[in-house]
Amino acid sequence: MTAETSYRTHLCGQVDETLAGQNVVLCGWANTRRDHGGVIFVDLRDHSGLVQVVIEPENAEAFAAANRVRFEFCLRIEGNVRARPASQVNERLATGKIEVIAAQVEVLNAAAPLPFMLDETPNEEARLRYRYLDIRRSAMQKQLRLRTRLVSEIRRYLDARDFQDIETPILTKATPEGARDYLVPSRVNPGQFYALPQSPQLFKQLLMMAGMDRYYQIARCFRDEDLRADRQPEFTQLDIEMAFVREKDIQDRVEDLIRHVFKSVINVELAAEFPRMTYAEAMRRYGSDKPDLRNPLELVDVAEHVRTSGFKVFAGPANDPGGRVAVLRVPGGATLTRKQIDDYGPYVARYGAKGLAWIRVDDLAKGREGLTSPIVKFLDDEALDGILKATGAATGDLIFFGAGPYKTVSDFMGALRLVVGRDLKLVEDGWRPLWVVDFPMFEFDHGENRWVSLHHPFTAPTIDDAAELEANPGDALSRGYDMVLNGSEIGGGSIRIHRPDLQSAVFQLLGIEAEEAQAKFGFLLDALRYGCPPHGGIAFGIDRIATLMCGVDSIREVIAFPKTASAQCPLTEAPSAVSERQLQELSIRVVRKEPA
Ligand code: AMO
Ligand code: AMP
Repeated sequence: MTAETSYRTHLCGQVDETLAGQNVVLCGWANTRRDHGGVIFVDLRDHSGLVQVVIEPENAEAFAAANRVRFEFCLRIEGNVRARPASQVNERLATGKIEVIAAQVEVLNAAAPLPFMLDETPNEEARLRYRYLDIRRSAMQKQLRLRTRLVSEIRRYLDARDFQDIETPILTKATPEGARDYLVPSRVNPGQFYALPQSPQLFKQLLMMAGMDRYYQIARCFRDEDLRADRQPEFTQLDIEMAFVREKDIQDRVEDLIRHVFKSVINVELAAEFPRMTYAEAMRRYGSDKPDLRNPLELVDVAEHVRTSGFKVFAGPANDPGGRVAVLRVPGGATLTRKQIDDYGPYVARYGAKGLAWIRVDDLAKGREGLTSPIVKFLDDEALDGILKATGAATGDLIFFGAGPYKTVSDFMGALRLVVGRDLKLVEDGWRPLWVVDFPMFEFDHGENRWVSLHHPFTAPTIDDAAELEANPGDALSRGYDMVLNGSEIGGGSIRIHRPDLQSAVFQLLGIEAEEAQAKFGFLLDALRYGCPPHGGIAFGIDRIATLMCGVDSIREVIAFPKTASAQCPLTEAPSAVSERQLQELSIRVVRKEPA
């Protein structure tokens, strides 16, 4: 090989029969090493794939080096590409028609015995602790590369449409998005703190007031909240804001963007127009504000049939304006065993259910005699008949009942709908995007005894009049919208309040007194006074979109270095204690709480 040869000439996965007879220099890791009676085979792997390298004993130096090789040794191999004999062709491998006869084997670095084999899926703790090994696995390689393509397609689309990519501060002041803030102490301002942004919300609004017209940012957001499969303490948003727009202008633009990225990244054609569903309808039919439309099961309200029933569990909520009695009819659900049915009880209890009544329809024609259920004895013929008719029940079905406060019943029956759909394999394939619209402006938080925003406090109400809003906050709808795909809320946004009087009125309704509003959001209220244009926008969860595109079940699969459910990083062991000196510099004293 000549001195000018580059460090590596080809990627492992690129070596094919067209290179037969040529010299190549390959770099990568020893995926396996096999000793076949005097000849050593090393499967050399890099991100592009695998290639078989043959080290013959005649080449004493290379052979000695290859003898030392173990799993995941990092190697550089020079060799000659040779067609495999027909009997040894491996059709499953892109490089299966050839092998590389090694001239030189250079061990760039040895590898200690591995904590887990790369072809198995170790537990999450081990995966995160040895993330650099975990990411060598081809599944992780594909996922992170797909995410890169997603982000670059987003940029390509928005850059071509005059959106300005503008960075906003990370050390900033709290923006309420409904979570707790991560705080950063200021050394030079003792006792004062920055908050990490829960989103760039206020800055992007200020950019509209500043005449930037169209903004986007791939922005990191920080929220101290309970973590789940689709939630991380720091995550990435595609953040967008536009001036001089109405809902439809924004929705049409980003719908087209989402269609573009699904087509260009995973070759999926999403619907030409995403359907719109009101929040009320989504809760009524699916018990969720992010319905998975691939699941054909729907909730049916049956309060009217049990209002006069002697069964208090149903009659109570049926007669309460804030209550709900809903059923989920599961076609073919009679195949569920008694144990399976009973196991759904504790599952829905996690969502607040006090019980989960059910009726199994063994034979509809036999009437009462054809039903198995712990509760039919409590229902008179008229109620029973009404319920069976309302649900369209047929022989072989199972009907679940949920009764209680409207929100609780919707939550647990919505969760039941998803898990039963999954267990009975009722969920259809494909992609079902939709817009959820007409959210209530406020929700009453009974724990805190005050109104809270369903989106955030800068979302405009559909009514423009502050007095009217104050008269009836519970009935007000917002100009917010969420984009939902296959049961995942991938984006949320709104038209914003652009008048200082309305913004002040909303703060007031949320229990933020004028003085507090001035202290927290004075800069926004000020800015609204200097010719603020009407504006609105949206933010998408990039991690969630990448998760859906990859077909994986947690956003941790598409984040290089995520945190565990307890917000820790097993790799770096963050968060960790800091020195007394650092604390002193920051004027901070740590107080250990006595265990309660
Ligand atoms: P919102 O709070 O709805 O809106 O967030 C927008 C989108 O971000 C994603 N997301 C998350 N992803 C992973 N982990 C989390 N903890 C997490 N929280 C949210 C979701 C969600 O739809 N400023 C507003 C946007 C606007 O009004 O323009 C906002 O942040 O996919
Ligand atoms: P109980 O009267 O508590 O023994 O309940 C009788 C049946 O009603 C049992 O099958 C319970 O699971 C069911 N049940 C109790 N509370 C509820 C509720 N809030 N919603 C639905 N079913 C319930």
